[in-house]
Amino acid sequence: MVLPYCIHLLFISWFLSAHMLAIAQRSTYIVHMDKTLMPNVFADHHHWHSSTIDSIKASVPSSVDRFHSAPKLVYSYDNVLHGFSAVLSQDELAALKNLPGFISAYKDRTVEPHTTHTSDFLKLNPSSGLWPASGLGQDVIIGVFDSGIWPESVSFQDDGMPEIPKRWKGICKPGTQFNTSMCNKKLIGANYFNKGILANDPTVNISMNSARDTDGHGTHVASIAAGNFAKARGVAPRARLAVYKFSFKEGTFTSDLIAAMDQAVADGVDMMSISFGSRFVPMYEDAISIASFGAMMKGVLVSASAGNRGPDTGTLKNGSPWILCVASGHTDRTFAGTLTLGNGLKIRGWSLLPARVIVMDSTVIYNKTLSNCDSGELLSQVPDPECTIIICDESWDFSDQMLTVSRARLKAAIFISEDPGVFRSASFPNPGVVINKTEGKQVISYVQNSVAPTASITFQETYLDAKPAPVVAASSARGPSRSYLGIAKPDILAPGVLILAAYPPNVFATSIGTNIELSSDYILESGTSMAAPHAAGIAAMLKAAHPEWSPSAIRSAMMTTADPLDNTGKPIIDSDINREATPLAMGSGHVNPNRALDPGLVYDATPQDYLNLLCSMNFTEEQFKTIARSSANHNCSDPSADLNYPSFIALYSNEGNYTWLEQKFRRTVTNVGQGAATYKAKIKAPKNSKVSVSPQTLVYKNKNEKQSYTLTIRYIGPNWNYGLITWVEENGNHTVRSPIVISPIIDHW
Ligand SMILES: *[C@@H]1O[C@H](CO)[C@@H](O)[C@H](O)[C@H]1NC(C)=O
Ligand SMILES: *[C@@H]1O[C@H](CO)[C@@H](O)[C@H](O)[C@H]1NC(C)=O
Ligand SMILES: *[C@@H]1O[C@H](CO)[C@@H](O)[C@H](O)[C@H]1NC(C)=O
Ligand SMILES: *[C@@H]1O[C@H](CO)[C@@H](O)[C@H](O)[C@H]1NC(C)=O
Ligand SMILES: *[C@@H]1O[C@H](CO)[C@@H](O)[C@H](O)[C@H]1NC(C)=O
Ligand SMILES: *[C@@H]1O[C@H](CO)[C@@H](O)[C@H](O)[C@H]1NC(C)=O
Ligand SMILES: *[C@@H]1O[C@H](CO)[C@@H](O)[C@H](O)[C@H]1NC(C)=O
Ligand SMILES: *[C@@H]1O[C@H](CO)[C@@H](O)[C@H](O)[C@H]1NC(C)=O
Repeated sequence: MVLPYCIHLLFISWFLSAHMLAIAQRSTYIVHMDKTLMPNVFADHHHWHSSTIDSIKASVPSSVDRFHSAPKLVYSYDNVLHGFSAVLSQDELAALKNLPGFISAYKDRTVEPHTTHTSDFLKLNPSSGLWPASGLGQDVIIGVFDSGIWPESVSFQDDGMPEIPKRWKGICKPGTQFNTSMCNKKLIGANYFNKGILANDPTVNISMNSARDTDGHGTHVASIAAGNFAKARGVAPRARLAVYKFSFKEGTFTSDLIAAMDQAVADGVDMMSISFGSRFVPMYEDAISIASFGAMMKGVLVSASAGNRGPDTGTLKNGSPWILCVASGHTDRTFAGTLTLGNGLKIRGWSLLPARVIVMDSTVIYNKTLSNCDSGELLSQVPDPECTIIICDESWDFSDQMLTVSRARLKAAIFISEDPGVFRSASFPNPGVVINKTEGKQVISYVQNSVAPTASITFQETYLDAKPAPVVAASSARGPSRSYLGIAKPDILAPGVLILAAYPPNVFATSIGTNIELSSDYILESGTSMAAPHAAGIAAMLKAAHPEWSPSAIRSAMMTTADPLDNTGKPIIDSDINREATPLAMGSGHVNPNRALDPGLVYDATPQDYLNLLCSMNFTEEQFKTIARSSANHNCSDPSADLNYPSFIALYSNEGNYTWLEQKFRRTVTNVGQGAATYKAKIKAPKNSKVSVSPQTLVYKNKNEKQSYTLTIRYIGPNWNYGLITWVEENGNHTVRSPIVISPIIDHW
């Protein structure tokens, strides 16, 4: 079978434009073959593949050049895809395309190497602020609880790392495809926990019985938190990583997670990152909540993802008061393709096509009958599909349109869409660009008024100029936390959309067309899973810079210094509503690591404060012990729901009754600035409320001094309303911001 090959589709290599000499150079391609067409003469697929390469060698005259190089089979694939990878020249590739069974080929790299941009977006730099103050995190150990790690990734190499901190007690546990020499001064620990899986089903065979990652998620989040300087660098590039695999292909059990976190505390991790959440369960059945409580009692902060079930209110996970709960935002990076119409008009559209193809001067069609792009049957009637660009309007779901266009083998598509979900999806399997409605009108007008409308599209362009940024991702889960309403959650917003980080090279990362899958050492992923390790890396560096700070102090520093404004100087937008994001979407704002280094004041809390909070929750003895561990801790002589937290939530429990309610909060703020300081309160009251603070001025004579104040909120409900209290330093530049939330209690939560 020989597939029609449109001459306009040129595969271009990076060197092609660079140097004519390079045309004869070879690149590695991944080649997909139809195994059903394998001739019977071949004993197996490997034999078929090597013979295919041999026949190219014989048929393409230049194949063996004067440097004696030749086309070369790299790998034969037969399980996850059928085909092979091979080092080929352009001529050899063209010859291959005429051989029986050929389906497709593309270069074996999905995304060009770009330095991961989020550390720049977070304004981390080597000369000032948190990076130098924390030694890039070199003395801290971040525990990552996930699907394991791909230790060979360059992100986990230990170039430039000093000796492992002596206090580290963890191990590098050998197992399937994993031995102790895979750990180093960067990846200092690797352990795995699956007794829970085996307990659930003793007959199960753990296929990768080691810390090796076969999923990709664990490798990605670990490299976000602490990847070394590489194609993509982590937030804390010198921090040590200890990896605890509890998520296996065969299952993910909370009993294993608890065991892992328990071990991590014993091993000496300073910070934990968890990008998992359970279905809604009460706090005393929530493993992450329970184990995080235990960690916090031992001085270890847990950064956990809020979940991706947004944008509805009350969808948030990991909202326990002792967790740093992280929401996900877009960064200022855009991925683009440039559409050039036959009349010269250029439009930069959104495109994540993971291949370096170019679509040249192809016919563009706009046909109202087809423009839903929802019917494969209709699209199959397009004449000469492989040389046609179709316009799909916004009337149908983007990903369905993409799939239909791909199946119909159309060359490319111009999608008209303003659905924010489009810009989160990392799946872009067919050549195309997404443009907005205004631009869509221009394109349609051109097509309708031309005799032979054409267009070209170039791909794989990135720009660091998206405005506004950050923007809260619509999918980021929203507070309040159903498992405990008394603390406003999430706490903070961090980058989580289309984040480039390390990936196991043998796990398929993305696809082209309907049946071609690509893999890569570095891939883009989106979700609060990517936001939590950003926050963990920052928290770890704060711990390095301020070893005396408690988990609560670290979280407070991050929250009170977070940015409420985006890069246009306006309040951060929620992409779901296209309006100002509320604290139930982004917490205190977008994390600002350099400001968090020097917050001025912190709201600290001790383990006893958390026990007093637990005491106020009316748990049974059993439930209480589940979280607090021992009844020796069960001294509830001083229950208090008024945790010393850097945010405020007043709950309106009187639904339907428009009466004024009042809630008082007592807070104690510790001066962590350099010395004497005076702060004045600035209040922005939520709608339908009156807020007062006493005293209105906090005067500190010394560092580490504590001062207390009372905040009183009188409010009439029952609607969600939002305000702020900011302590502003006089003759200084510290501002200590806390959001105020007024929230009804919804029964069905
Ligand atoms: C660990 O595995 C690697 C790669 O398979 C091998 O090169 C190395 O010798 C092994 N080290 C030990 C201690 O077994
Ligand atoms: C596990 O492996 C053994 C031996 O290879 C096999 O007999 C058994 O059926 C496997 N169990 C499961 C659940 O796959
Ligand atoms: C639009 O597509 C339909 C369905 O293929 C076809 O019947 C019709 O002729 C097309 N219209 C134009 C103007 O090409
Ligand atoms: C569409 O995109 C153009 C160019 O980027 C921009 O100027 C215009 O404001 C956008 N229109 C809408 C409705 O977003
Ligand atoms: C706990 O119980 C007390 C007394 O029954 C009640 O006043 C309080 O509101 C309850 N607290 C919570 C968090 O349910
Ligand atoms: C319980 O804690 C209070 C202080 O919060 C303390 O005064 C009291 O002695 C403690 N009781 C016991 C039995 O430890
Ligand atoms: C409204 O207030 C009255 C009197 O306090 C109370 O009896 C009633 O249950 C309240 N209604 C609701 C919906 O809370
Ligand atoms: C705060 O002020 C000090 C001294 O005036 C200055 O060195 C520092 O850079 C300022 N910090 C910020 C974040 O503006």
